[in-house]
Amino acid sequence: MRKVLILVVVALVVVLLGIQFIPVEMKNPPVEDELSAPQEVKAILRRACYNCHSNETIWPWYGRVAPISWIFGYYVHEGRDEINFSTWGRLDPKRQIKMKKEIWEETEEREMPPWLYRFVEPGSRLSDGDLSLLRKWVFSQDLKKFNTYSYDHDDDNHESGGKRKRYQKRYRNDSKDSGKRYLTPVNNPTYKEECGGCHFAYQPELLPSGSWDKILAGLEDHFGEFIELDPDSKKIIAEYLKANAADHSSAKRAVKIMRSLGNRTPLRITDTPYIREKHHEVPVNVLMRDSIGSLSNCVACHTTAEKGIYDDDYVVIPQ
Ligand code: HEC
Ligand code: HEC
Ligand code: HEC
Repeated sequence: MRKVLILVVVALVVVLLGIQFIPVEMKNPPVEDELSAPQEVKAILRRACYNCHSNETIWPWYGRVAPISWIFGYYVHEGRDEINFSTWGRLDPKRQIKMKKEIWEETEEREMPPWLYRFVEPGSRLSDGDLSLLRKWVFSQDLKKFNTYSYDHDDDNHESGGKRKRYQKRYRNDSKDSGKRYLTPVNNPTYKEECGGCHFAYQPELLPSGSWDKILAGLEDHFGEFIELDPDSKKIIAEYLKANAADHSSAKRAVKIMRSLGNRTPLRITDTPYIREKHHEVPVNVLMRDSIGSLSNCVACHTTAEKGIYDDDYVVIPQ
């Protein structure tokens, strides 16, 4: 018995030593520029984010020991891929605004820094004071633009090449990620036919299954409309909506919708706190334009809504 134990320990030690020879890339490419932000904001980002989101990574000692070095290497690789403060100047101004908003979103929801990192590096945790500084930085300049919010098309054309590339790259990411980036486009013909006539056929991932149940149970008074469905179609639609509802989805937006809802099951997508919060800057008089009508008309502004893509890069508010 003892011999077996000793053998196991020796084997473990040999493996642990052995894997140290599998190289991990620990390079810091050159720093291209410095983010322009107030000193106290920079200090927060440096302390909590730079190890993964810049070319100034300081590898902690444990981060050099396999297998932890592999995890850390993965974090840095993926982190720089998302946002790299050392190449911030490569982003055009519109993209920088968008990134800042993502930074706010991720930190406010305590998704960033990743919990595992916060656990091993308590110094990276963000206090409420840090958050309010970040908030001020993110929302200081840009959001007032909303009153006249519309992208000018020339500008869009310039960019479309780069955008397309990024879009394709992200799209490819979908298949390998456990959490998908986009909603799955509607692919059920019965649902599209029966529920896509009066309005855009909303992706099932925009509401939890409890909401879809309620909607289907109330078709005789569907927001003032009477909807007749034969039992077979109703069954197909119910099954499709349920199987693909927000509570069964790993898509980033579906997860956020669910988190904002708790166990509530509203009848409207536009009544979910996440969706409301995303649009509270859009003025009512804009929604009332003939070309839009109401916030329920997602396709009026989200040019890629049918593809399940709601990124604000693809928002064009019609006049
Ligand atoms: C330990 C490494 C690490 C640290 C520290 C870290 N991040 Fe990240 N971050 C990542 C990784 C990995 C990803 C990509 C995978 C993901 O989205 O979870 C990412 C993604 C992001 C994204 C894009 C999220 C998305 O889904 O589009 C934002 C924004 C972000 N990080 C902001 C921050 C901010 C702000 C900080 C500091 C307060 C920070 N991160 C600290 C590793 C890190
Ligand atoms: C006869 C027309 C009509 C048909 C068919 C129809 N709807 Fe609707 N639906 C409406 C109207 C009108 C509204 C309210 C829109 C508004 O307030 O601008 C609405 C709103 C909705 C909303 C809420 C949108 C929001 O504001 O978040 C959902 C979800 C919805 N419908 C699902 C369905 C489903 C599922 C079906 C198929 C079973 C369906 N609809 C078929 C007319 C229709
Ligand atoms: C009047 C135009 C308009 C309509 C209608 C509209 N949206 Fe939006 N939506 C916007 C704008 C503008 C933003 C960008 C907000 C921002 O920059 O944070 C946005 C942001 C979003 C976001 C977050 C995008 C991101 O990158 O963070 C989601 C998700 C979204 N909308 C979903 C919907 C859905 C679902 C509907 C229909 C039920 C809808 N929207 C209807 C204009 C609209």
